[in-house]
Amino acid sequence: MEGLNGDNVLVKIPKAPTLDDINPRNSKVLMRIDINSPIDPETGRILDTTRFKSHIQTIKELAEERGNALVLMSHQGRPGSPDFVLLNNHSRILSEYLGMEVRYIDDIIGPAAREEIEKLGQGEILLLENTRLLSEETIEMVPEKHATSIFVRRLSEHFDYYVNDAFATAHRSQPSVVGFPLVLPSAMGRLMEKEVKALSKVFNPEIEPKIFVLGGAKVHDTLRIIEHIVANKVADRILTTGLVAFLFMVSKGIDVGKQQKALLERKGILPLVPRARRLLLKGAPIETPIDFKVETPDGGVEVRALGSLDGPAKDIGPQTVAMYSEFFHEARIIVMRGPAGVIEDDRFKEGTVSLVKNALSSGAFTIFGGGHFNSILKELDDTELLKRVGHLSTGGGALLLFLAGEPLPALEALHLSARKFLGW
Ligand code: 3PG
Repeated sequence: MEGLNGDNVLVKIPKAPTLDDINPRNSKVLMRIDINSPIDPETGRILDTTRFKSHIQTIKELAEERGNALVLMSHQGRPGSPDFVLLNNHSRILSEYLGMEVRYIDDIIGPAAREEIEKLGQGEILLLENTRLLSEETIEMVPEKHATSIFVRRLSEHFDYYVNDAFATAHRSQPSVVGFPLVLPSAMGRLMEKEVKALSKVFNPEIEPKIFVLGGAKVHDTLRIIEHIVANKVADRILTTGLVAFLFMVSKGIDVGKQQKALLERKGILPLVPRARRLLLKGAPIETPIDFKVETPDGGVEVRALGSLDGPAKDIGPQTVAMYSEFFHEARIIVMRGPAGVIEDDRFKEGTVSLVKNALSSGAFTIFGGGHFNSILKELDDTELLKRVGHLSTGGGALLLFLAGEPLPALEALHLSARKFLGW
């Protein structure tokens, strides 16, 4: 099957244009970014600026190098949640990272915003207000419907091009993501391009063996990814950690101890056992840990092998790290999603940190997904090792859908746009 840039892939990924295909210069460009970030509910302070930094390259290229008047739009939080805030602080942070002024207007489609857009000169940048203040932006519909929304009709007449750099929102079928590509020549920004290119390697049968290290607390999501990669024979080995490891251990008939069993029950994970068993019966290459770090009643930490898991197991143990790291030597791609333990507690961070270090040292192309790895990589403090990070994805839900082989509406809309405007 044909995938992005002609790669052979196990899963079809819609081919989407890049900036080189539409070549916007000295024009008016509307760009969707995703600077939705964690916010301190008490102070309103933005707690992590990773996503801001990730868009700098595309913003500079479009405004500074190509001389476009650039209008940015993003959502922040969801209506009703404490992180649903206005974007005035966001424009300040963007300005700081860019070293260029980013104007801000507390309007999206009203006369004030449209007047500012009209006034915007070449090389200037404007950030519109939180897109989710518009009710249309909170509705999931097909691109054709969103192309006729008031949001898209009001704004599109002011622009020559639309660019989508928001990989982290690529799983949403909302007007700012899928509506504009149908009415304006459109392309992926550099971040979107980088994400899709790096993540597409996961589905390239020529780059193998591929090893997935899947952990964290989102067991339902992770099981979906596992089902997909097993069905499409994407993974050569799946190394489980965290709660998902306990699910597969129970499914194999391994005693996980009272606490772990109770946890699985409390979190509604036990009903997933038949699905996990089906995967194992099919011979899916799923590995489970052989030892754990357990918290003792007096607050100490002990390493326990299988069969003696009394107490809460909060990290994988050294034998598991060694066994999993052996597999890394044979890998050409390693995908890591979700931590291997309770990394917020320093006593249970070692398993994840060691797996990250060993994956980076292995020489395989390493892909990290999920915010947890930001903090782990920041703490590594080893420039040589950090140079080996293949890709750190900005996506949460979007990454999950991508790895689960499900279509990303943003890419599908960009593909439709190319058929309409570029004659693909
Ligand atoms: C995310 O953080 O995953 C994206 O910004 C999308 O946010 P959403 O899940 O609220 O659509």
